[in-house]
Amino acid sequence: MSTNTTIDQDKLMDFVFRVVGEVGATLNATLVEMGDRLGFYRSMADGAAVTHAELAQRTGVDEHYTREWLCAQAAGGYIDYDPATARYTLPAEHAAALADEQSPVFLPGLFQIANGTCRDAPAIFADARTGAGFGWHQHNEDIHQGCERFFRPGYNANLVGSWLPALNGVVGKLESGARVADVGCGYGASTIVMAQAFPRSAFFGSDYHAESIAAARDRAAEAGVAERATFECAPAASIPGSDYDLVTMFDCLHDMGDPAGAARHVREVLAPDGTWMVVEPIAGDRVEDNLNPVGRLYYGFSTLLCTPCSLSQEVGLALGTQAGAAKLSEVILGAGFNQVRKVAETPFNMVLEARP
Ligand SMILES: C[S@@+](CC[C@H](N)C(=O)[O-])C[C@H]1O[C@@H](n2cnc3c(N)ncnc32)[C@H](O)[C@@H]1O
Repeated sequence: MSTNTTIDQDKLMDFVFRVVGEVGATLNATLVEMGDRLGFYRSMADGAAVTHAELAQRTGVDEHYTREWLCAQAAGGYIDYDPATARYTLPAEHAAALADEQSPVFLPGLFQIANGTCRDAPAIFADARTGAGFGWHQHNEDIHQGCERFFRPGYNANLVGSWLPALNGVVGKLESGARVADVGCGYGASTIVMAQAFPRSAFFGSDYHAESIAAARDRAAEAGVAERATFECAPAASIPGSDYDLVTMFDCLHDMGDPAGAARHVREVLAPDGTWMVVEPIAGDRVEDNLNPVGRLYYGFSTLLCTPCSLSQEVGLALGTQAGAAKLSEVILGAGFNQVRKVAETPFNMVLEARP
């Protein structure tokens, strides 16, 4: 530091306390996972005011751990504390976000994927020096599971009700019987939601990650749609089949090493009047458009998860999680599509429609 730099003490202390808050939030990420795994949130979802001893008894967790966890949650504003009764309450709105796996705003999956990402970070730091990549398949399972638990509520809430209807003429085809390929499907959450809604159509999910495909098959069987939702391990650039009425990609194009090659292959396997639906993280086209909480989250995932995944594959284009519609459209149009337009967006996603 230069000797003649003047330090504004108020500004310095503001920054220090902001950072203290962020370190608290860092620890809180693990505490949320603890609440999810040990059942604290689910046990408090009825809104009853509990003492730490009661919550410990409800969950079968040691009282000391339960007490400290509750205090940390109260200090972070996740749980309310009443000093007069020494009781803790989970507000109904927080229960919807933390305890209800079917809620459209269920968030523990986001913590699970974030914590899983941080656990693998030392390998990423080493790769960052050399430019080497780190594939989706090399990560711990919390990333794969957390990804599904984070994205599934959004697909449940938006896919059938608003995203598919926003595409030109697609719902009619799905209702009467269409051929659909869901590429980069992970655990198949999106494939299964579509298969449940459109019993006359045939859905083919694929992903390059074999363990995810095995999980997708199990989940489709559990959901009772295994006959019309089949899965195969295949990289996007060589999925089998032809004449698909609809090809979908959910939050995966930017993870691919060669999104342009994948786009060219989609163009080849699509029926002449078919549609490619590309769901990607919401982003503006310029860095300054994304300097906000959602952009911060996605740039974090981009650095530690998505960009390393792309770099681990051939070409290694590394589009980044915040590529934005303009850059994505360039890739899509460059692959021989004639039209691309943004048809929907949510706080986390945007939906592009591409047509030959
Ligand atoms: C962020 S996850 C999204 C998974 C799923 N679509 C979802 O929304 O839950 C990205 C997925 O892309 C897959 N992936 C990455 N590169 C791929 C490639 N070249 N071909 C096929 N799948 C790929 C990963 O295995 C992973 O399942």
